[in-house]
Amino acid sequence: MKFINVGNVKIEQTAALAPMASVADKSYRLMCKGFGASYLVSEMISSKGLCFGDKKTSRLCEIESEERPYALQLFGEDPYYMGKAAYMLNKYSPDIIDINMGCPVPKIVGNGSGSALMRLPDTAAEICRETVKNADCPVTVKFRAGWDEENINAVEFAKLMEQCGAAAVACHGRTRTQYYSGKADWDIIRRVKQAVSVPVFGNGDVVDGKSAKEMYDYTGCDLVMIGRGSYGRPWVFRDIKHYLETGEEPAPVTVEEKMTVMKRHCELICHYKGEKQGMKEARKNCAWYVKGLKGSARLRAACGGLNTLDDLYKMIDTVLQAERT
Ligand SMILES: Cc1cc2nc3c(=O)[nH]c(=O)nc-3n(C[C@H](O)[C@H](O)[C@H](O)COP(=O)(O)O)c2cc1C
Repeated sequence: MKFINVGNVKIEQTAALAPMASVADKSYRLMCKGFGASYLVSEMISSKGLCFGDKKTSRLCEIESEERPYALQLFGEDPYYMGKAAYMLNKYSPDIIDINMGCPVPKIVGNGSGSALMRLPDTAAEICRETVKNADCPVTVKFRAGWDEENINAVEFAKLMEQCGAAAVACHGRTRTQYYSGKADWDIIRRVKQAVSVPVFGNGDVVDGKSAKEMYDYTGCDLVMIGRGSYGRPWVFRDIKHYLETGEEPAPVTVEEKMTVMKRHCELICHYKGEKQGMKEARKNCAWYVKGLKGSARLRAACGGLNTLDDLYKMIDTVLQAERT
């Protein structure tokens, strides 16, 4: 397997898990890591939340050794607080600090952070410089193709971030106005790759080994990042590695394995969040795991009523019995 270097950090050139707030929490990340995700990124962390001592925010910064190589992702609109927050993150020893300049959500954009920064290049540059100055590790920046169809500026933006000290850039090939709809534009990722000399992470619409290989071949990117394609299928990272190594599609995952993985995932969520809160959060993951199984519409609805691990175990028994008949 080949590796890329982001500053001094070595990352296997297979597939990384993209940051996903409220989805890719510690248990989700560890599941993906278990199946070979080569690089993980935290949920986004508010720079001001961190600076003002918010407890929930600092909990997002805790790192397990199994997560490495691992990035903590910061967001914010104020270069001073971003620099201060980067300094505060040093005590958690992240391998990388990533800056979120791609989030499309109104609450974030309305404050001038996330993808709003693609329209404010001077502030974005200052944020990148302040973060780099204060971080003990390499800093990367994740952004989109641009604000909208008329303002596609990822290439200039990537160059600017490189000039300001970014050790790598990640480009999601959609505009802010697209949110997550439509198709990601891989041409813009290719153009970003041609324009900078730091590593480029390509992101958008990779869902399996074939699409991962296509993204590598088409864009020339250094690392593929997967978000929604990992919903309820953390084995996608194993599949991609297999495909990149052999050029062959892996055998489909059996229902038994799906259920074993779902069970392990939910137990991990409950381990970190307690059974009550954990099962609430596990429901959406379960609904993803049962997609495509016999009677999946009914099963998905039943996931909404899971309150305890026992409820889950019963559901798994039902699924396995149904598969055998
Ligand atoms: C539920 C959800 C939460 C996300 N949260 C973040 C985030 O916190 N930081 C970030 O940079 N991108 C975030 N993203 C964007 C993803 O990292 C990724 O760029 C996007 O989903 C496109 O990749 P995909 O087509 O593989 O899903 C989020 C996406 C989703 C669907």
